[in-house]
Amino acid sequence: MAFEITGTGRAIPSRRVTNDELAKEKEIDTSDEWIRSHTGIGARHMAEEQVAASDLALEAARKALAMIAAADAAPADAEKAVAEAALSVDAIVLATATPDFLVVPSTACIVQDKLGAKRACAIDVSAGCTGFVYGLEIAAGLLAVSDSRKRALVIGSEVLTKFTDWSDRGTCVLFGDGAGAVVLEKTSLPQQGTGKRGILRTILKADGSGAEHLVCSHGGSRNPLKAGETIAIPPHIGMNGQAVYNFAVKAITETVAEILSQEGITANDVAWIVPHQANARIIQAAARRLKIPEEKFYLNIEEYANTSAASIPIALDELNRAGKLARGDLIILMGFGGGLTYGANLIVW
Ligand code: UT7
Repeated sequence: MAFEITGTGRAIPSRRVTNDELAKEKEIDTSDEWIRSHTGIGARHMAEEQVAASDLALEAARKALAMIAAADAAPADAEKAVAEAALSVDAIVLATATPDFLVVPSTACIVQDKLGAKRACAIDVSAGCTGFVYGLEIAAGLLAVSDSRKRALVIGSEVLTKFTDWSDRGTCVLFGDGAGAVVLEKTSLPQQGTGKRGILRTILKADGSGAEHLVCSHGGSRNPLKAGETIAIPPHIGMNGQAVYNFAVKAITETVAEILSQEGITANDVAWIVPHQANARIIQAAARRLKIPEEKFYLNIEEYANTSAASIPIALDELNRAGKLARGDLIILMGFGGGLTYGANLIVW
């Protein structure tokens, strides 16, 4: 039994904001030169006020389903084909740090309803920027334990620009909004041995001792907003940039080395490493330490900035639609972020 990605999709808000435009709009004391040289970011896409994580997730999910509907020789009516494909979804796993609602309901349930995925169970995953890597393994687990579940949607969706302190220039320039989704199918092909397919192995790790380095400290049960309280800045993500930077380089270096060694392969056997897009310098530093050419790491941070749990599925969809993934290619998805969490999936495309 293998767990294979058969469809991908992404949703990118149309409003593109360059570094210079952001600095002007939000009155940030920064420059395009600083942001580019310290992060590799050139622009980000920002969701409109009325757009929530579920809206972007829904669009990405529909595109991923449209891909499999087309592969299944879809009827002429594309919308009908997507609606039919939605009825075949058994599980929706949605990774986000910026859900539609605090407490309940889950963002996955909103997507389940709007998609018309009537028979799907639906859960959110809170694992920061590693959410998609965790989500794939959770979805594979849901499919593995039940004969009746065959198809899952795994989505990463974020509207981080709504949880940003625009007066913190070390953090606010980093984030962008977007969503990516994949269809994960249980197939009868082998997961190991000759002809192996799909997710070969996954490493998931957590280090809660670093929780304070990336934290939205207001609004949860630790620090609830109180009736009548006036807050200067809405709930937002605070970050110890240096600590997260050091953690991230170590997490990528160790996890990529570990998953290669567990599988008994080298980086030469891998077509792409698709890392969470947090900072191009983090990826370059890890590539140097691993002695893997930078070109093997797919980077699109220049266009989208850091979209947390959405960054890996967005990158995967870009690669897929650009025809840069061949059947049989080995791919490593590598996530790291709030929690602290980190992990990787090794996949045969
Ligand atoms: O998804 C996972 C979450 N996040 C990450 O992975 C981010 C990890 N951390 C980082 O990427 C980097 O630490 C940052 C990009 C956040 C910061 O880069 P840095 O090279 O570590 O800069 P720094 O914080 O050490 O600051 C260097 C200087 C400071 O000025 P002084 O004290 O040297 O005069 C900052 O005030 O750069 C200044 N600075 C800025 N200047 C212009 C910080 N932010 C900005 C800015 N524009 N936006």
